[in-house]
Amino acid sequence: MKRYDFDEIIDRKRTNCVKYDGYQDIYGADNLIPLWVADMDFRTPDFVFEAIEKRMKHPVLGYFIHSEGFYQSIINWMQRRHQWTIEKDWIYFAPGIVPGLSFLVQAFAAPGDKVLVQTPVYHPFYYVVENQGRQIVRNSLKLVDDHFEMDYTHLEDCLRQGVKMMILCNPHNPLGRCWTKEELKKVGELCLKYHCLLISDEIHSDLIMPGYKHTPMASISEEISQNTITCMAPSKTFNIAGLSTSEIIISNAELRKQFEKLMYDGIHIFVGNIFGEVALEACYTEGDEWLSQLLQYLKGNVDFIQQYIKDNIPEIKTFRHEATYLPWLDFSALGMSHQQLFRLLVDKAQLALNDGAIFGEEGLNHFRINVACPRVTLEKAMEQLKLTFRSQSCISAR
Ligand SMILES: Cc1ncc(COP(=O)(O)O)c(C=O)c1O
Repeated sequence: MKRYDFDEIIDRKRTNCVKYDGYQDIYGADNLIPLWVADMDFRTPDFVFEAIEKRMKHPVLGYFIHSEGFYQSIINWMQRRHQWTIEKDWIYFAPGIVPGLSFLVQAFAAPGDKVLVQTPVYHPFYYVVENQGRQIVRNSLKLVDDHFEMDYTHLEDCLRQGVKMMILCNPHNPLGRCWTKEELKKVGELCLKYHCLLISDEIHSDLIMPGYKHTPMASISEEISQNTITCMAPSKTFNIAGLSTSEIIISNAELRKQFEKLMYDGIHIFVGNIFGEVALEACYTEGDEWLSQLLQYLKGNVDFIQQYIKDNIPEIKTFRHEATYLPWLDFSALGMSHQQLFRLLVDKAQLALNDGAIFGEEGLNHFRINVACPRVTLEKAMEQLKLTFRSQSCISAR
């Protein structure tokens, strides 16, 4: 069996990549270790390049239609990885999940309608709603011991007041929760009860830590499936975000008609780019072994930073991490303001972590770290974090 090397150091600087070449304006500094935007520093797997190279051998790159292989690879992946049976007609292309969410808001919520999100949450959820003239309703997630749970009472109160759409993050970014089937069922049933359309963003559904299992919201029951639109993609899992290729899955025929009216007749999006198409098929056909080795490596990285923090900077709280490669860190016990923490992390620790406040007000004094990089990068980052906070008078030297 081929062993993939996730320890390989790849120089991504000066490739116009967001993570290395696009942080200077946000952080007001250079020379940071970038552990922020959600892509990985690992080599995109060989089977992606092979599929693209094969397509490049044909001398014409004209208009194309989705291949049978494109559809079948998605259908098979959902069945094999998530035990979810879907049909070809349910699958639509989107040039990214955020654009997909934006189209769904346009198609299914009128200006002024309420759209519910569970906060803190991936920040573009707010933009696609508010910047298109729809209203955000927040259901804040509750801390219970070392993890977050949904507040069903508040959720129901909100839904009762008339919410048109809920955008669920399943699994949840930035809190690292892999929602259980029972948790999802409660949400699905509440949305049915109050006629609220459920959009389930499942972009992180393949990035599940050992011991946890992803449940597609739409796989729970036929009724819930008819009220759910699912957004998925190989982009995070296989590090191909630059190919802008995702899928939207809709089982309800009426909803499909409405969506097609916008996508086909209005925006005129049918397919994406030819290389994203063949890359998606290769990932969903050949990606199982690579993914299994990736998940082992990521779990090792999550364990490493959590143990390091516990041993060296226990004032920083970590959480049970079930999914994504983006653990959530709470710096509140250090007794500093959010702005002070941000500046210390940038100016002293020389780390570019995601500012937790962008995900909602619950994220004050919190930061999100991207651990999808070689272990040595994290070792260096943790050392810089320790030295920074050890030098602060609020922490006794360890
Ligand atoms: C929950 C969630 N949805 C969507 C995206 C981005 O999707 P895309 O790049 O396909 O627009 C991310 C990226 O981090 C994410 O975490």
